[in-house]
Amino acid sequence: FQAADLRDYKVLITAGPTREPLDPVRFLSNRSSGKMGFALARTARRRGADVTLITGPVHLADPPGIEVIRVTTAVEMARAVFDRATDMDVIIKSAAVADFKPQAYEEHKIKKKETGLRLELVKNVDILQKLGQNRHPHLTLVGFAAESHRHVEEGRRKLREKNLDLIVMNDILGSTTGFDVETNQVTLIDQQGSTTLPLLSKEKTADHIWDKIVAIRRQP
Ligand code: PMT
Repeated sequence: FQAADLRDYKVLITAGPTREPLDPVRFLSNRSSGKMGFALARTARRRGADVTLITGPVHLADPPGIEVIRVTTAVEMARAVFDRATDMDVIIKSAAVADFKPQAYEEHKIKKKETGLRLELVKNVDILQKLGQNRHPHLTLVGFAAESHRHVEEGRRKLREKNLDLIVMNDILGSTTGFDVETNQVTLIDQQGSTTLPLLSKEKTADHIWDKIVAIRRQP
């Protein structure tokens, strides 16, 4: 995969967590570092693609040669993705989007209460599902899934329900896989079946994911 085999692709990748603010000092978020999504973006660029990377708050520098759009909340990520989706050949949703957000944002810092605090959460927009519902014929749509059990069954369900071409499952309980580590071990699930890759750097994992996408796009 040294050749510029992605040179005709326009690709959009999402990375990192989203942050859902509660008040001026607090937010709900998750452990995503953005490393997997950035590795996918760098690898696509190295293989010749035109890359747009939409990322939540992460401590990673902009990779050279890539358009990087920084967002904070799921709603901002959704807007940035939907604004650009129609142009794309491939979209990979590796971001860990918060499923829920606080029902209300408090303008002032929430005060300590003797009795504890009950938070009301509401569902966030499911960006991947919306993309699956409105897909154009030349789009290859790839989801990620962070699961702690029943990986393959859950993956197949999401592949079907979200109308995807490929889903990349990672085990989030291993200490060398998933969130905020340099390595990952994933299972690639498509219409044809599933393949579990060995434990690899996120960069090498990204190359395998792109190989799979190329193979899917070559299918008649
Ligand atoms: O960032 P790193 O530290 O390198 O870690 C990588 C990772 C573990 C975050 C990444 O590889 C990963 O698994 N990302 C997806 C995590 C996730 O949100 O999984 P999910 O099963 O909750 O969501 C399934 C899919 O739907 C994902 O493609 C997600 O982007 C998408 N989704 C989910 C919720 C939502 N509201 N909108 C979405 O688009």
